[in-house]
Amino acid sequence: MVGLGYVGLVTAVTLAKKGNEVTCYDIDAAKLDMVARGDSPISEKGLEEELKAVLAAGKLSIVRSLADAVNDSEVVFICVGTPSKPDGSIDLSGIISVAQELGETLRVSDEHRTVVVKSSVVPGTTDKRICPVLEESSGKKCGDGFGVCVNPEFLREGSALEDGLHPDRIVIGLMNSEEGVVMQGLYDSFDCPKVVVDTKTAEMIKYVSNALLATKISFANEIANICDKLGIDVDNVMGAVGLDSRLNPKFLRAGLGFGGSCFPKDVSALAAVGREVGYEPKLLDAVLKLNDWQPTRAIQILKEEVGTLSGKRITILGLAFKPGTDDMRGSRAIPIIASLLDEGAKVIGFDPLASDNARKLFPDIDYAASVSEALEGSDACIIQTDDVIFAELDIKEFKVLGSGLVIDGRRVLAHKRGELESLGIIYRGIGVPKRA
Ligand SMILES: NC(=O)c1ccc[n+]([C@@H]2O[C@H](COP(=O)([O-])OP(=O)(O)OC[C@H]3O[C@@H](n4cnc5c(N)ncnc54)[C@H](O)[C@@H]3O)[C@@H](O)[C@H]2O)c1
Repeated sequence: MVGLGYVGLVTAVTLAKKGNEVTCYDIDAAKLDMVARGDSPISEKGLEEELKAVLAAGKLSIVRSLADAVNDSEVVFICVGTPSKPDGSIDLSGIISVAQELGETLRVSDEHRTVVVKSSVVPGTTDKRICPVLEESSGKKCGDGFGVCVNPEFLREGSALEDGLHPDRIVIGLMNSEEGVVMQGLYDSFDCPKVVVDTKTAEMIKYVSNALLATKISFANEIANICDKLGIDVDNVMGAVGLDSRLNPKFLRAGLGFGGSCFPKDVSALAAVGREVGYEPKLLDAVLKLNDWQPTRAIQILKEEVGTLSGKRITILGLAFKPGTDDMRGSRAIPIIASLLDEGAKVIGFDPLASDNARKLFPDIDYAASVSEALEGSDACIIQTDDVIFAELDIKEFKVLGSGLVIDGRRVLAHKRGELESLGIIYRGIGVPKRA
């Protein structure tokens, strides 16, 4: 496994738990030290326990060079990051440099190896960019000396290990049948549909999955913003719309927009690919534009209720991009906090897992160790993640808020609106009609 981030570590533990012998390498030596001790560098339910178990069973080991990772392996998974460039297109520099180093290792080996591109890469990348680098640096032909295939990952942060062990489907993109046999063998014990296609199609499936999920969210948010103007509760609308047997009700909930390391970057990369091939991706652009705007709705509501924000103290409950993770990448808390600071507000944040990572981005705001501490002395509060701990809060906690305003950015307290209002708390949300 090359790259021990969310995808690499979870894939490594999953495959080790299935009985394979997995060797792990990452360029980050500190991360390797942690993994070797059995400490998970990321916060994911059950991951650290399973990591310790596979280490103890001798099924997972750490090496300090890519050559050592490759030398004893039949299959090499590339799981490094593929971030966005400033123009939204994919930055392949990390994966290309791994391919270069990997090829140099393959050059001095007589064994056939299967190289698996697990990182998300836009259609055509494996054939046109990765294979040529592997061929040049190894001095061998793809399909003769080594094979290459694409195996995109669909795990969701927050339930990554569970998704790794029980995926909805496994997609394998092949260049030749030899790699198909290797991959089918590796995934034989996984009880889910296996979709075998060519490499370009496998790459596209990953981007289209994320783009469609992101589109559903932006669609729900667009409808919520219109519902706001009409005094209609968007949940009642989407709840009924989602009952249509032709639709899946998931991802139709309105809120502050999508974040994370994948949706914004993958939709941007797909839009950039469209542009590169001469197509103007109008829908994908709109999905991103609306998502960028959506946190503004919370600031608008805040100003409607409390007036000027200068000098006001505002609590953000939930800092990560979603519950169950410490990942701040793409979190909607980032533009919200930035806007609040621009307006001269003071911000106090609380997150059960992500405060340390949030501190790296916003070292000068306050961080609370509990919800009560976060609310104490604050004027208003924005709930930014749908963490169950917020849904289960004793609502009397909100009585300390100066303005009494709770903006429920994820509809976690919608079921308690009546109770909140009976305590004099102002409950506002995205697509939640304002009480007359
Ligand atoms: N995070 C997710 O939920 C998710 C889900 C599906 C797919 N993906 C995709 O999987 C890929 C990896 O995502 P991630 O979230 O795991 O990324 P990440 O940033 O968490 O991890 C990437 C890891 O690769 C390591 N790395 C970078 N360069 C290296 C090199 N030259 N040699 C060895 N290691 C190197 C980094 O140190 C880091 O530990 C991306 O393409 C992403 O789009 C991510």
